Amino acid sequence: MANKDTTDPARMEKIVSLCKRRGFIFQAGELYGGLNGCWDYGPLGAELKRNLKDYWWRKTVQERDDVLGMDGAILTMEPVLVSSGHVGGFSDPMVDCKTCKARFRADNVATSPCKEKPSVCAGQSPKCELTEPRDFNLMLQTNFGATGDQIAYLRPETAQSIFCQYKNVLDSNRVKLPFGIAQVGKSFRNEINPRNFTFRSREFEQMEIEYFCHPDDGMRLTDEWLEERLKFYGEIGIPREKLHILDVPDGERAFYSKKTYDIEYEFPFGIQELEGVAYRTDYDLGVHEKGAGKSLVYFDEETKEKFLPHVVEPSAGCDRTVLALICEAFDEETLTDEKGKEDVRTILRFVPRMAPIKVGIFPLLKKNEEQVRICREIQKTLQPWMTVFYDDGGAVGRRYRRQDEVGTPFCVTVDFETLGEQGDALKGTVTVRQRDSMAQERLPIAALLPWLLERVR
Ligand code: GAP
Repeated sequence: MANKDTTDPARMEKIVSLCKRRGFIFQAGELYGGLNGCWDYGPLGAELKRNLKDYWWRKTVQERDDVLGMDGAILTMEPVLVSSGHVGGFSDPMVDCKTCKARFRADNVATSPCKEKPSVCAGQSPKCELTEPRDFNLMLQTNFGATGDQIAYLRPETAQSIFCQYKNVLDSNRVKLPFGIAQVGKSFRNEINPRNFTFRSREFEQMEIEYFCHPDDGMRLTDEWLEERLKFYGEIGIPREKLHILDVPDGERAFYSKKTYDIEYEFPFGIQELEGVAYRTDYDLGVHEKGAGKSLVYFDEETKEKFLPHVVEPSAGCDRTVLALICEAFDEETLTDEKGKEDVRTILRFVPRMAPIKVGIFPLLKKNEEQVRICREIQKTLQPWMTVFYDDGGAVGRRYRRQDEVGTPFCVTVDFETLGEQGDALKGTVTVRQRDSMAQERLPIAALLPWLLERVR
């Protein structure tokens, strides 16, 4: 983690509160007291997350001819995770408190709240009695089959199904090295201390690429993927200056990794990892080749060389990136009206391609049937292309504010000019108001769709 204090608990509190109030993110099972470490995305959160995953897929799979997609099963058979090392070693050291029976990650004891009062953190009250650290496996196990006697695990990462299907993808698609397999999907880890809102969850989504290559190319491709991923973050609205690259030193990387970069973001609770870009050598294909007893060797038709491909893995957290998008977009602006009265405008400054709603559509007067009819027509024209929201409740100024708060970049208002009541020059035009500058311009209705498409994709 980079050495810079970016913490701002008050800002984080406002973000969490906005997420609930406007329907981005709710705690799972809240009605029954809540399921710790699990989250439900509400209507706007679901749109935001979908925009992120769709853009990642478009950039990673659809706009490249060297990466193919897959969608693997979540339930994973035990031998796969024995070979990968997860059954034996996917654990965090933890300590138990014999007094309050709580369990803490050994590396987080000093910052984990303790139930004892007046103590603040675990181990700080004279009543606390902490055990020595012990390893705690993070995988979630389940039983299935007619008699429920077979063990499977909810996958702890999406990567393993990619390694296991590498040969099938290779053989069925006639691809050549280097090529990648990409996957977006749920992963599960029984984290000891889920914390920082959705940042460390027990159920989360990953966006992973396993890029198979010749051993000579691994180091170079790791650097290239790092650059590619930084470019991606810029395109979704996370500026380069808020990202930190940690070149993970020898001794702190997984033993099989020759190089790992952590891409970290300045969250309001500190600088924390968003994504890892790791050169995993031939470790993964090697352990599965051995575990399954089947060759995964690649034959290069041109050079006649046979070898086990190496892997470069850019592995990003989807929920963490959604959280970074919200943290980055959140802004409060003090505005002063003509009478000198101050007011705070809350805005989510999403780049348009990530915004959950692209356009708000308002009739100036909801009682004016012609304005409403035109709004509904505009809505029908835009809906196949983008998410829009029709709103006729309250003053237009308040409707703008409601859209600012959820990050809608454009609002279209149909008014009396649209109907031609102020002359022919403005007939058939609408007001388009931009969220960030609050600037307004008039556009012909017929020009709206191309104008918006250019700005939201
Ligand atoms: N296949 C490699 C792998 O899974 P990882 O560093 O354990 O590596 C990759 O996870 C990414 O998945 C992380 O950078 C993070 O964004 C996300 N992630 C991991 N654990 C998470 C958790 N408990 N909650 C939310 N996201 C998590």
